[in-house]
Amino acid sequence: MLLNDWVTNASNRLTAVRVASPKLEAQVLAAHSMLVDRTWVLTHPEHVVNDLALEGLLQRRESGEPLAYILGYREFFSRRFRVDSNVLIPRQETEVLVETALELPVDRLKALDIGTGSGCIAITLKLERPNWEVWATDISSSALQVARENAETLGADITFRHSNLLEQLAGEKFDLIVSNPPYIGRNEIIPREVREFEPDSALFADDNGLAIYRQLAATIKDHLTPGGRVILEIGQEQGLAVSALYPGSEIIKDLSGNDRVVMWRFADDP
Ligand SMILES: C[S@@+](CC[C@H](N)C(=O)[O-])C[C@H]1O[C@@H](n2cnc3c(N)ncnc32)[C@H](O)[C@@H]1O
Repeated sequence: MLLNDWVTNASNRLTAVRVASPKLEAQVLAAHSMLVDRTWVLTHPEHVVNDLALEGLLQRRESGEPLAYILGYREFFSRRFRVDSNVLIPRQETEVLVETALELPVDRLKALDIGTGSGCIAITLKLERPNWEVWATDISSSALQVARENAETLGADITFRHSNLLEQLAGEKFDLIVSNPPYIGRNEIIPREVREFEPDSALFADDNGLAIYRQLAATIKDHLTPGGRVILEIGQEQGLAVSALYPGSEIIKDLSGNDRVVMWRFADDP
């Protein structure tokens, strides 16, 4: 089969299962299978393809498996992070949290990322601010394994700890604590592609998605230096509820104008 015909046929099949950018994804799948880039696919429509090899990838995508898991990576802050089904696929909204942290006018600080997943937040902070000392935790040891691999591939020196929130960090204090915790309520309706393929422990939290913000609010002061900051990603409907847990905090919006981040300062200056 000619490459152009395969892309047209695959694009039609992906349209039928409501993939948002079917032609683009068909081209990306073809490129991935042939170990070329998408430009090569666009410029070689007459190339004869092994459509049996491509069929397996196409069926995985038709079944709803996210493209990032099929490819094995997702770009975040212009870097490629390896992902598999043990970690949340990094989202563009999370770049708001990272940008907020990078705006802090501090050359040296000790930062912690709670629930690091693929490591996308912690690794980006370390690579963008090499003078910062960055720690990262996760309750999932398989996620930590992926984060460690990404840190090594991307050359980021991070201290990783397997921990339920702050439990394994007794005695450690930080100038900055960031987190994109699970924040979807257990009864919320979310796309099937997310619910069926991404890890439950990365998505859902009790108490309408607020449980982890609440648990952190109870203990986080013990782990902050005076004047230390907390930057949390939130669901777009959670701004008021989360900011109420961190009195005096500020809500920051994403590019779509939705509440996306809560920033709080521990005002216990000596
Ligand atoms: C929404 S994902 C965020 C992953 C990554 N930081 C990102 O932004 O793409 C939440 C992460 O928190 C971890 N997690 C869930 N509950 C946790 C807990 N009690 N303590 C530590 N990590 C937890 C999950 O395993 C998951 O990796």
